[in-house]
Amino acid sequence: MNLPYTAILGAHTLGFVLLVGAIVVFDLRVLGFAKQIPLRELSRLTLPVCFAAVVLAVGSGVLMLNAHAQDLLASRALQVKLALIVAAALNAAFFRTGPWTTVAAWNVGVPAPFAARASAALSIALWLGVLACGRLVAAFIRP
Ligand code: HEM
Repeated sequence: MNLPYTAILGAHTLGFVLLVGAIVVFDLRVLGFAKQIPLRELSRLTLPVCFAAVVLAVGSGVLMLNAHAQDLLASRALQVKLALIVAAALNAAFFRTGPWTTVAAWNVGVPAPFAARASAALSIALWLGVLACGRLVAAFIRP
């Protein structure tokens, strides 16, 4: 067993589990589940978790990519995964600079506007796509 590589894969796993977990909880709230939880207060917890987790997932991902550069640069699954990560980041930027600027009006107890709900649903779909492609990348290295 390659211990350093296994440790980095462990850090990657911790990173993507925390990242997608926090994002899905936040997005489900935007979609209208548990409307009694104030969104701004929830974001004070989920946002720092997302920032720490993205550093862990991307940092460890780049290290593993480096170790398998020969095999992986040709992997279509990795290309799709990276494209989905970029799309998810752009969607988050749209949410933050668009619907989120009016959150005071829908912070608690009322449905979020359509643009916020559409962005939250897209976010869940994109991140689940990243997870699926991540698994395919791993299968490409260790069939
Ligand atoms: C620049 C960013 C990233 C790069 C370069 C990268 C690279 C990699 C590599 C090389 C592997 C295969 C490791 C192995 O099995 O030996 C992997 C696995 C995986 N990655 Fe990433 N990754 C990145 C970000 C992410 C993010 C943000 C997520 C999810 C939110 C994610 C989810 C996964 C998953 C689910 C696996 C499969 C783990 C397993 O089945 O053992 N990755 N990644």
